[in-house]
Amino acid sequence: MAADKTLVGLDIGTSWIRSVIGSVSKDGQLMIEAIAERPSEGVRSGSIVNIEQTLKIISSVISDAELQAGTEVASVILGVGGDHISGIQSSGVVGIQSKDQEIKREDIRRSIDVARARDLPQDTEILHTLVQDFQVDSRSGIKDPIDMLGHRLDTRVLLVTGSASICQNLRKCVQKAGLQVQRMVLQPLADSEVVLGMDEKEMGAIVINIGSGTTNMIAYVQGAPVYAGGISLGSDNVTGDIAYMLQLPRSVAESIKVSDGCCHTPSVSEDEMIITPAVGGKPPIRFPRKELAKLIEPRMAEIFSMLYGELEKNDVSGTFGAGVVLVGGGALLSGATELASEIFRMPARIGFPEAINGLDRMYIDPRYSTLLGLMKIEAKKYRDNPSIGKSGKDKEGFGGKLKGFLGRLF
Ligand SMILES: Nc1ncnc2c1ncn2[C@@H]1O[C@H](COP(=O)(O)OP(=O)(O)OP(=O)(O)O)[C@@H](O)[C@H]1O
Ligand SMILES: [Mg+2]
Repeated sequence: MAADKTLVGLDIGTSWIRSVIGSVSKDGQLMIEAIAERPSEGVRSGSIVNIEQTLKIISSVISDAELQAGTEVASVILGVGGDHISGIQSSGVVGIQSKDQEIKREDIRRSIDVARARDLPQDTEILHTLVQDFQVDSRSGIKDPIDMLGHRLDTRVLLVTGSASICQNLRKCVQKAGLQVQRMVLQPLADSEVVLGMDEKEMGAIVINIGSGTTNMIAYVQGAPVYAGGISLGSDNVTGDIAYMLQLPRSVAESIKVSDGCCHTPSVSEDEMIITPAVGGKPPIRFPRKELAKLIEPRMAEIFSMLYGELEKNDVSGTFGAGVVLVGGGALLSGATELASEIFRMPARIGFPEAINGLDRMYIDPRYSTLLGLMKIEAKKYRDNPSIGKSGKDKEGFGGKLKGFLGRLF
């Protein structure tokens, strides 16, 4: 593979800051060169609350990755998530200007500009404009209108927005660590890229990233993204509940959660027993694992119910044939798929990122889906427009398919 361009992904999580360095060839073939991670500091619920602390960890993680890859990096693709993210449905209608009434890329560009030009709340920035489909005159549900004949083009999009100040803090922190932010990418959009196939997006799917401080979600219906958002609850809340109820330090509660925790009581048999470690002057306690599950289940049920409620609140309708796909560290909690399946009333599975050249098997784990997805999205963009990044801006070379064209735009 003729390696052509170096890509760097950065995932600033509440409990871990992770970075990846990869190279991509002109045909979009990705090769992972390095992955580094360190426990996070200064991040709460996915947002930076102490820039100085966080930037130190970012610098260390990037240095670790640079050492592994034997290269120096200058800019990163940054994941973004949290409860400040919203997905807003919008559409843009334009008249077709050419004499022969044939729809050109310029018409699509104009209609997308119209869809983006809407009043947004203060302190909001648009992170992505995700095209859902097009309507040409009275024909709806069109995926590629280029070269079709019509008088009127209506483009339906999902505007993914985030808090401008939270995004600005993220950028500032990365810049203070000596790096440029090449692009910000919605975390669950990155997740989807490595855990969902095109066919699953077509069938309808919901990807949920259960992190430590946030849970982010994206939903697809008939191949189009229809919802994006997040809540400020995550697997750390489960740890907190265990610590509080059993009167144990968080570190001990965390290891009990990982080794014996389960969030689906029916999956635990009555005779399973667990023993908590002795802490300080407190002796070990032996008690049924089902009791621990009863303690954990309500919090996880709250998280899934809130997300389900988000879909209802946003009038998300359609079929989800591919069901729920869980990623993030919290997806590894025993019983998570069973509980998600009950609450969403559809099948659920854990999303393991797809294999990528050079990727060690240990990273085929739902905790790394965001990081690897950032690489995959950028590799696709590069395949569709190799001039990306060379001038600092995405060039508008019109040569490829519509998919590539839209990918280049947003
Ligand atoms: N095997 C496991 N079983 C249960 N929980 C786990 C397991 N492994 C990790 N976790 C939990 O996953 C969480 C960390 O997940 P992840 O690394 O995706 O979070 P993050 O990206 O740092 O946070 P966020 O996305 O919320 O900013 C922690 O709360 C941890 O306890
Ligand atoms: Mg995360």
